[in-house]
Amino acid sequence: MTPVNKADKLSPDASEKGDLSMPAKVDMDKIVSLCKRRGLIFPSSEIYGGLASCWDYGPMGVELKRNVRDAWWKTIVHERADVVGLDTSIMMHPGVWAASGHIDSFTDPLVECKSCHLRWRATEMKGERCPKCGGELTEPRMFNLMFKTSMGPVEEEASTVYLRPETAQGIFVNFDNVITTTRKKLPLGIAQIGKSFRNEITTGNFIFRTREFEHMELEYFVKPGTDEEWLDYWVRERFDWYVKLGIRKENLRLRQHGKDELAHYARDCYDIEYLFPMGWSELEGIANRGDFDLIQHAKHSGRELGYYDAEAGEKYVPYVIEPSAGVDRSVLACLIDAYDEEEVEGEKRTVLHLHRSLAPIKVAVLPLSRNEKLTPLAKEVFNRLCPNFVTDYDDSQSIGRRYRRQDEIGTPFCVTIDFESLEDKQVTIRERDSLAQIRVPVEGVGKILEAKLKGEAFDASALWATRQK
Ligand code: GAP
Repeated sequence: MTPVNKADKLSPDASEKGDLSMPAKVDMDKIVSLCKRRGLIFPSSEIYGGLASCWDYGPMGVELKRNVRDAWWKTIVHERADVVGLDTSIMMHPGVWAASGHIDSFTDPLVECKSCHLRWRATEMKGERCPKCGGELTEPRMFNLMFKTSMGPVEEEASTVYLRPETAQGIFVNFDNVITTTRKKLPLGIAQIGKSFRNEITTGNFIFRTREFEHMELEYFVKPGTDEEWLDYWVRERFDWYVKLGIRKENLRLRQHGKDELAHYARDCYDIEYLFPMGWSELEGIANRGDFDLIQHAKHSGRELGYYDAEAGEKYVPYVIEPSAGVDRSVLACLIDAYDEEEVEGEKRTVLHLHRSLAPIKVAVLPLSRNEKLTPLAKEVFNRLCPNFVTDYDDSQSIGRRYRRQDEIGTPFCVTIDFESLEDKQVTIRERDSLAQIRVPVEGVGKILEAKLKGEAFDASALWATRQK
């Protein structure tokens, strides 16, 4: 493994700090409105007026979010022999958070307006006055971001527990369990996807910063001394993952944390930033956590948390490289990057050019009309496709409107059944991006779509030849 100069290879402007003046192609309101209109994301508890910073994923959003999670899990866990998965509880022994430093150090400086009592993150303040009403601000005080609750049926007797602010600690406290039961050798990664909770002082920008969100975290345990090379490796891997998901490279960049902004556990850290509508902002952090966590948990729990390297005949406490991403933030970046407004035959169409692996619906079966003669063949096509792909069946409204709906949720392929189909048993496949239409035999439509959804070229002549026999 050769260390890379990350700044040279991955991002031409990696040395720049967050540049909020950079224009982006789509404003957030358009994304929020599309998400509401097409059942991707709704405000939480909307019929009660909503709950600040909480969002619900609708029928299309739940598929998109699941696809993002699955893409991460496939790359990080299933396609590697050196990573295993884990699913740990959200509430953990309070000692975990004392050991990890979250009780003492997981804080943000908060200032409050003396007149309207709004609270702000001190680090985000540009002037000395309240941005809302211009009132005088209090001195900054530290505010812990962990949500507290109590465990047990009687509140007075209950002990305080915290909702986890990161999934990472569930991995560290299970390090020994995993090593013992899998008998894997280092370097070894342990991966987890799950909800995390942070009582953020300021939230906003839709699902960018919320108080409840989902983490995708990998803790990659390595021999001390190899950690810097592994940090390079994971920065590169993670950057490439977003590109493979279809995010444009020019909308991604890398930024190394300054010494003054490193988290209490980190020796080094890089952010992968995305050009969100509000400017370049963090999409994922990749940190070198050293041996901080295992040493702390060993000290606080009294259990030894080391590794015996049988080949080298030595014992050590591994260092940890941690790529830590947000599911919701990745969903948002994918939506923004895929969003487009185009003019097609004099009409505006809004389209999500989502990568086919992320599209909530892969294929929509659309009979030209609801005419009862078309229904049996259309249903037959649907039944052929739905065991293999997430397939929608829609026969309401005009065909034009139905195409528009599918374009707006990013469906890569529509299959149309018309009156000619009844005669020649052929249907039309319409591609979302090129708008190309091809006519194919009903019995081949599944094979063609399978190849197309895998990104493979498909030689239709073989199909026609089989048919003619
Ligand atoms: N275990 C390390 C850790 O949690 P982080 O930089 O605080 O590091 C990692 O978070 C990622 O989690 C961020 O890059 C972001 O994608 C996501 N994230 C963090 N806080 C978030 C929030 N309040 N809302 C949505 N996503 C968040």
